[in-house]
Amino acid sequence: MHLLLVILLFLEAQLCVQSSDSNSPSGENLSTNGLPFPWSKVRLPNYIVPVHYHLLIHPNLTSLRFNGSVKIEIDVKNNTNWVVLHSKNLRIFTATVLDEHEAHLSDKVLSVLEYPAHEQIAIFSPKILTSGEKYFLYLEFGAPLSDGFYGFYKSTYKTKEGETRFLASTHFEPTSARMALPCFDEPIFKANYTVRIRRDPSHIALSNMPLEQTVEIGNGLFEDQFEVSVKMSSYLLAFIVCDFRSVSGMTATGINISIYAVPEKWHQTRYALEAALRLLEFYEQYFNILYPLPKLDLIAVPDFQAGAMENWGLTTYRETSLLYDPDISSASDKLWVTMVIGHELAHQWFGNLVTMEWWNDLWLNEGFARYMEFVSLEAVYPELKVEDHFLDTCFGAIGRDSLNSSRPISSLAENPTQIEEMFDTVSYDKGACILHMLRNFLTNEGFQSGIIRYLRRFSYSNARNEDLWDSLIKTCSEEEFTAGEYCYSSTQATKNAYHFAGEHIDLKEMMYTWTLQKGIPLITVKWKERKLYIGQERFLKIVLPDDPSWHSLQEGYLWHIPLSYKTSHSDYEKKHILTTKSDVLTLDEEVDWVKLNSDMNGYYIIHYDEEGWNALTELLRVNHTALSFKDRASLIHNAFQLVTAGRLSLNRALDLIGYLKSETHNVPLLQGLGYLQSFYKLIEKRNIADITHNLKTYILQYFRDVIDKQSWSDDGMVSDRRLREEVLSLACDLDYPPCLEKAKKLYNSWVESNGTISLPTDVSETVYMVGAQDDSGWAYLLEKYGLSMCETEKSKFLSALASSKDSEKLSRLLQLGMDGTLIKTQNLPSLIYLVARNPVGHFLAWDFVTKHWDELVEKFPLGSFGIREIIVGTVTQFSSTEELREVEDFFKSITEQVSQLRVIQVATENVEKNIMWLSRNLESMRTWLQQRLD
Ligand code: BES
Ligand code: ZN
Repeated sequence: MHLLLVILLFLEAQLCVQSSDSNSPSGENLSTNGLPFPWSKVRLPNYIVPVHYHLLIHPNLTSLRFNGSVKIEIDVKNNTNWVVLHSKNLRIFTATVLDEHEAHLSDKVLSVLEYPAHEQIAIFSPKILTSGEKYFLYLEFGAPLSDGFYGFYKSTYKTKEGETRFLASTHFEPTSARMALPCFDEPIFKANYTVRIRRDPSHIALSNMPLEQTVEIGNGLFEDQFEVSVKMSSYLLAFIVCDFRSVSGMTATGINISIYAVPEKWHQTRYALEAALRLLEFYEQYFNILYPLPKLDLIAVPDFQAGAMENWGLTTYRETSLLYDPDISSASDKLWVTMVIGHELAHQWFGNLVTMEWWNDLWLNEGFARYMEFVSLEAVYPELKVEDHFLDTCFGAIGRDSLNSSRPISSLAENPTQIEEMFDTVSYDKGACILHMLRNFLTNEGFQSGIIRYLRRFSYSNARNEDLWDSLIKTCSEEEFTAGEYCYSSTQATKNAYHFAGEHIDLKEMMYTWTLQKGIPLITVKWKERKLYIGQERFLKIVLPDDPSWHSLQEGYLWHIPLSYKTSHSDYEKKHILTTKSDVLTLDEEVDWVKLNSDMNGYYIIHYDEEGWNALTELLRVNHTALSFKDRASLIHNAFQLVTAGRLSLNRALDLIGYLKSETHNVPLLQGLGYLQSFYKLIEKRNIADITHNLKTYILQYFRDVIDKQSWSDDGMVSDRRLREEVLSLACDLDYPPCLEKAKKLYNSWVESNGTISLPTDVSETVYMVGAQDDSGWAYLLEKYGLSMCETEKSKFLSALASSKDSEKLSRLLQLGMDGTLIKTQNLPSLIYLVARNPVGHFLAWDFVTKHWDELVEKFPLGSFGIREIIVGTVTQFSSTEELREVEDFFKSITEQVSQLRVIQVATENVEKNIMWLSRNLESMRTWLQQRLD
């Protein structure tokens, strides 16, 4: 075991060496003016530390430029005569260094060197800055408001009367604060910020802190001065100038919460206010640490690239992530808004109060925030049944983690593109899933008190992966330890040993196996009488054990796996931690069946032997409720994962889901249906007429009862509503005549009322989709798209428009998305995906991406959410070797640009997976269907 740890640490050390090597001073770095730049690394030196920023900023919403000045108090830790800090696309007008009495060190204007490749500038001081002293940097700067979605950027919206209005807003994470002000733009440099903003009287200004006072400064301008912030990282700074309206409320602990939106959407803010109030109160209690600012704003910004952003005290959202219209938005829209708020509010602790030291540990922010979405909603909104979605989070993570192109949760990220790419399913979803496993292992109380300890220990400062593991368990005396307390013994001999079920577990060592190595374990189980012979290996989806590369891909992989299992006779929770390649478990009695990984609380996949799968298939057939819905869903998931990996035959998996006819829980039902639907989509795009037809017939026959049972209304609990939304959308997609008829009828009455009657929100998207299939319906929906004042409604219109089977219409949509007026640029990545998933559109979308690549990268920088959605959304629709070659050729042609992108590996490996799936399973699918349909 220690060997593993050593290997992992060694690997990490190697990465560090590499990174500093590639940055080592070579003396070759030249500034824009030809003079040598004094610093050659991507990361700033650690001996000049910002303490307090005084920022004045003035955006002009007519000229669409901003000017600003910043005075930065710095601590100097080593003697030096220059200061390096970040700045990107800013014009620096003046730079000076002041002493602690704010006296100029020289009368001369100091020269500023720029090194754009590292987004840095250097200021030379006329005098040595001495270690231990305090100084001030003073800079004046300006730039156009940025065009995209980063830095200090412009956004627009249209009023009902058709007037276009401007606002200016910020998005800094991870590395764009440097586009709005010169600053030390790394998470470790926490400082206080005092912000002043100039604006005209028709606008308001917002920033992280409450307004302290407003002064009139002449020329018709006002200056809003904000209170000094707490110590925080630069990426959390935010300011906005706009003409929005707000609603406000106060938490029990006196925090003022406001929701801001464009004036005409003001009535859609009610729900968010209630949710934010309740969730903030929940977190204050759960973390037992009060939210430290007097106010928290949530604002819906009309142009926004990500889903939302956690700026301290001024969280920003896409309109669809914050605004909720009870008449138009669906049950899933409401859940989404609640989850996003739960996520960003969790960041106020995980991320803002305690921040990762560097981006390699981004999961400490995002994995926790993703996990807390579930913890908080389950407590505050039990009726939303958020736990129904948790398994999907882990399934998503597994999809990525079972390919060789995955990465460890903590991985090297140095430059801005690599850092952007850390915001992926590994940091978010795998992070959340291993936290869930840990919480089950430590108990809810143990987990909660552990993370409270972590939050307290690192408040207003930064933490690494290992700091979390060190904080989770309290330290105790030898006696307490021996008495079986949950604690680390303070005595050296048993240090780090965690007392657990009679075994001594090193929690840190265990968690390193989940965070420092990539991949997910597969546990194989052979069951003989009362013995379970178990083994662990790395689960790989497209490499079989007889593949020559198998062994090298397995080598060195080992996890410490908390095992749990259920049998026909009892539950065995936390029976054992598997720390070796194989082991034997003895059951207390003879049993009829065994199911490992209860409720899928652990992050691993199980493969049973013939007898084991048979027993479980039979159990589902005769008495499926003997297993929890999570167990049923995870069995379905495991079986189809193993099919993809070539370890289980498709027939066996299809037989396993044969019981779904009597399944009533939405989670396993949607899990099984989802697989069938994804096979259908894959085969449909390959134009294999007989299987496409038979699979469609099979799904419609076999699930007819569930489909026919659905009402076209918004009745029922959230889980019923979710099932209805999915099932009816599938049925209409498969051209089920009763579905099409009903949808068409609803569509016609909606058109007759000129869009004034409200359709049941959960089925409205399906209704529009059916309506969009003829010319007049499509034109009508496009017109409505332009007029709607509700973003969730617009996204349903767009999805309907993109489902048209007319390729000219699809091209037109893509053009509109590129143009960015009627369809905002922020929606282009999801539009491209919508077109690509349409069987008529998948070549069209790819063609569009290759033709417009340069423009797309200009709008969505390499590594960003947007460009990744575009790549994954188009490429993963492919499933033939010719298509794969085309994709590879394209990326080769722009290799210089994209060589560092992980997402390309991920996308191409997914195509290989599709190809492999078809070659392994197409024939069995054909015969299986023929047998069932005869
Ligand atoms: N911190 C992120 C925002 C972010 C995303 C910054 C990507 C830089 C790059 C924020 O907390 C977040 O995770 N937003 C999610 C939405 C949320 C509900 C998961 C997003 O934008 O998708
Ligand atoms: Zn987040």
